[in-house]
Amino acid sequence: MSKLWGGRFEKETAEEVEIFTASIGVDSRLWDVDIRASLAHVEMLGLQKIIPNSEAQQIAKALKEIHQELETKSARGELNFDPKAEDIHSEIEKMLKDKIGPLSGKLHTARSRNDQVVTDTRLYLRESCLELIQDIRNLQTWIVEVSEKHLHTILPGLTHMQHGQPVSLAHHLMAYFWMLERDQARLKDALQRINILPLGSAALAGTLFPLDRAFVAEKLDFSDITENSLDAVSDRDFVIEFLSAASLVMMHLSRWSEELILWSTPEFNFVKLDDSVTTGSSIMPQKKNPDVAELIRGKVGRVYGALMGALTMLKALPLSYNRDLQEDKTFLFEGLDTVQASIRLMHLMLKTAKFQTESMAEKLRADFSNATDLADELVTLGLPFREAHEVVGRIVRHCLEIKLGIEDLSLIELQKFSSLFNASIIEKVKPLHVMEARKSEGGTSSVAVRAQIQKARKALES
Ligand code: ARG
Repeated sequence: MSKLWGGRFEKETAEEVEIFTASIGVDSRLWDVDIRASLAHVEMLGLQKIIPNSEAQQIAKALKEIHQELETKSARGELNFDPKAEDIHSEIEKMLKDKIGPLSGKLHTARSRNDQVVTDTRLYLRESCLELIQDIRNLQTWIVEVSEKHLHTILPGLTHMQHGQPVSLAHHLMAYFWMLERDQARLKDALQRINILPLGSAALAGTLFPLDRAFVAEKLDFSDITENSLDAVSDRDFVIEFLSAASLVMMHLSRWSEELILWSTPEFNFVKLDDSVTTGSSIMPQKKNPDVAELIRGKVGRVYGALMGALTMLKALPLSYNRDLQEDKTFLFEGLDTVQASIRLMHLMLKTAKFQTESMAEKLRADFSNATDLADELVTLGLPFREAHEVVGRIVRHCLEIKLGIEDLSLIELQKFSSLFNASIIEKVKPLHVMEARKSEGGTSSVAVRAQIQKARKALES
C-alpha cells in the first residue's frame, strides 16, 4: 500500500501490522463528513492565501466530484472501500490524487490526521445525536398521544412486584415520557461540548500558517473552536459523555422492555405484541416470543461495554494524540448504532401493540389495592392511622378467608369492623374511584395526569 507517510521508511510495513493498525473497516462511514470538513478547510486555505485560491478551487471541485460519486454509490448500496487502506482519510486523499495528481497534496497543508479525525468524529456525532434526539421525540409524542386515550384505563400499580394501588395506563406510560425527557436533555447538553471545532490544532501544537479557524467553524456549523491544541487532539470526553447518556437511554429501554415481556405473558396479559414484531419457535408451534423486547434488554450490554471501553482507553493516556485513540470510533459507533436501533424498534413495537385493558381491570378485582383507601377513610372519620391500619388488616384477613374483595363487602359487614363507616365507603373502594382520588400533583387521577400531559406537550414544543 502506498502510504501518506512513506518517505522516511526503508522497509515495507509487515502485512499483519497493516491489518492490525487499519481502521477503514470502522471509520469508512466518516467519508461524508471527512469530505465536508476538507471542503471548509481548503476554502479557508485559499482565502487566507496559504495556497493559491485557484488551486484551492480545483481541489474543492475534485472533492465535490468525489462526494457526488460516493453519494451515488452509497444510494445504490455499492459503497465499498479498499479494505487494505489505512483509514478513510488516506483513502479519500488517494481518490483526490487519482483525480488531480500532485496538487492533491496541498489539501493537507496546516492539517494533521490528528485534528482531522477528531473533527470528523465530532461532526458525525453531532448529526447522529440530533437524529437520536428526534427519534426520542417521536417516541415521546407517541406516549403522549396514547396516554390521552387512557386516562381512565386502570391497572394494578406495583411495588415489590405486588399489587399496591390502581393507576391509570396513562400515568404508567407517562413515567417513561419523563425518563426520555431527561435522556434527550442529557444528549442536548452533551451536544454543546460535542459541537466544538478542533481543526486547526494540526498534529498537536498548532501551525505556523495563518489559519482562520472561526471561518471553518462557521462553515461547518460548529458553535466554537477548541482553545488548546494539545487538548483538542487528545480529548474524547465528548465520546464518553455521549456513551454515558446513551447508557441511560438503554437502561430506561431495558426496564420498559422487561415490563413488556412480563405484560405479554398469559399470567399478565396486559399487552398483545403484534405478529410483525414477534417471532415463533422452531419446535413449539404455539409460541409467539417478544424477541425485540428481549434483544433491546440484551443489547444494553453493548452500550455499557462501549462506555467502559472508552473510559478505559483514555485512562492514564498521556498527551497528546496516541494511536489508542483510534479505538474511540469502535466504541462510539457500537453505542450509537445500538441505541438508535433500540429506540426505533421500541417505538415500532409499541405503536403496533394492543393494550388489553379489560384484562388490566380484571386483575384489580379482589386484589386489595383499595385497602389504603379504606384505612384513609377511617382516618378521615377521626381514627388514628395506626388503628385504621389494624382495622383494615383484619378486614383483609376476613376477605381472604371468604375469598372476596373489599369492594364485595356490604356496609353492614364493614361496620362489623368499625362503626365509623358510612354509606359513602361503598363507592370509595371501587378501583376507578381509588385511582381518581389521587389528585395530588404528579398523582394518577385523570385530573393530575391531564395536567402532566399538558406540561409534556409544552416540553415537546420547546
Ligand atoms: N485513523 C486514525 C484514527 O482514527 C487517524 C490516524 C492518525 N494516525 C497517526 N499516526 N497520527 O485515530
